[in-house]
Amino acid sequence: MPASFLRPALRGFQPYVAGQQPPDEDGWVKLNTNESPWPPSERVLTAIREAVDERLRLYPHPLGLVAREAIASYHGLRPEQVVVGNGADDLIELCFRAFAGAGDRVAFPYPTYPLLEPLCAIHQAIPARHALDAEWEPPEGFGADPAPLKFLVNPNSPTGTWLDREAVAGLVEASPGVVVLDEAYVDFAPEDRLEMIRARVPNLLVLRTFSKSYALAGMRIGYALGDPGLVEALDAVKDVYNLDRLAIAAAAAAIQDRDHHDRLVGYVVQERAWLADRLREVGFEVAPSATNFLFARPPARHPAATLHAALRERRILVRHYDREPIAGWFRVSVGTREQHQTLLQALKEVMA
Ligand SMILES: Cc1ncc(COP(=O)(O)O)c(C=O)c1O
Repeated sequence: MPASFLRPALRGFQPYVAGQQPPDEDGWVKLNTNESPWPPSERVLTAIREAVDERLRLYPHPLGLVAREAIASYHGLRPEQVVVGNGADDLIELCFRAFAGAGDRVAFPYPTYPLLEPLCAIHQAIPARHALDAEWEPPEGFGADPAPLKFLVNPNSPTGTWLDREAVAGLVEASPGVVVLDEAYVDFAPEDRLEMIRARVPNLLVLRTFSKSYALAGMRIGYALGDPGLVEALDAVKDVYNLDRLAIAAAAAAIQDRDHHDRLVGYVVQERAWLADRLREVGFEVAPSATNFLFARPPARHPAATLHAALRERRILVRHYDREPIAGWFRVSVGTREQHQTLLQALKEVMA
């Protein structure tokens, strides 16, 4: 499209760059986008198959009611406290639509989930970046930032940083605007902050996704939990049918299959510790992780960009960063033991 047709505010726009998605069948060791190493639950696959019939001629329920009810019931909340979306990304976009327009500040720690920057540009909001401190925690002034919309990813990506109850509660209390607590990775962390939703904290929204601990990144399902007033605001601005019939069926089945979810999370947490130890053995610095990935830095004599390229040549994908303050760091998703062994073997060869 000729640039002249683009809104002036978007000239020079830097879009979100998604992690590489090679063709499924090409045998890559894919540890770059924090997907699940295991397939989805059989119960979910059955529910999706059963939803494939003549009813697909009909629109889905605009609120994805069956999914909302199942999610609410699992968390001990009311359906009016739940919004579903086309992935957590959709819910993040809805938060901009509802709470921050042109000229408004949107505050977030830096570095964090990189989707927030392009969304600020699209909505002509002003990004208020609060550089993480030496422990990769949000700095002093973050809570008091008067932005009408504030994001906190906990555990954070890509650092894996985990903020405890007091830190999160203090931030939310100090914030005059809406705080979106993105808990995309929380199932791999020690605990979540849903007690604040149950306590009806009026300015808090918690985001969740089915992409990680439910192994459903390909279905695009996420949800937000919050006070009915905030939920109503998101519902008012969402796309009309933002979850299709298959996604609604998958979400309801997935949240009910606790056994599959818990076994998957247990595996990832155990395998995370194994991989962290092996990476340390080959000289990496590995940050503590409360997620399904490891944030790790190779020894100084092995530049991350060179290592990354050498792994890619061997069809192994990880994420690496070239901008401060995280230049030279890798983010490696927790995969299967077999994938980890392939990765470690390749690292040993390349670093020898
Ligand atoms: C912090 C964070 N939030 C949200 C998302 C998006 O999740 P979804 O796949 O549900 O859109 C991701 C995806 O990796 C993420 O890392």
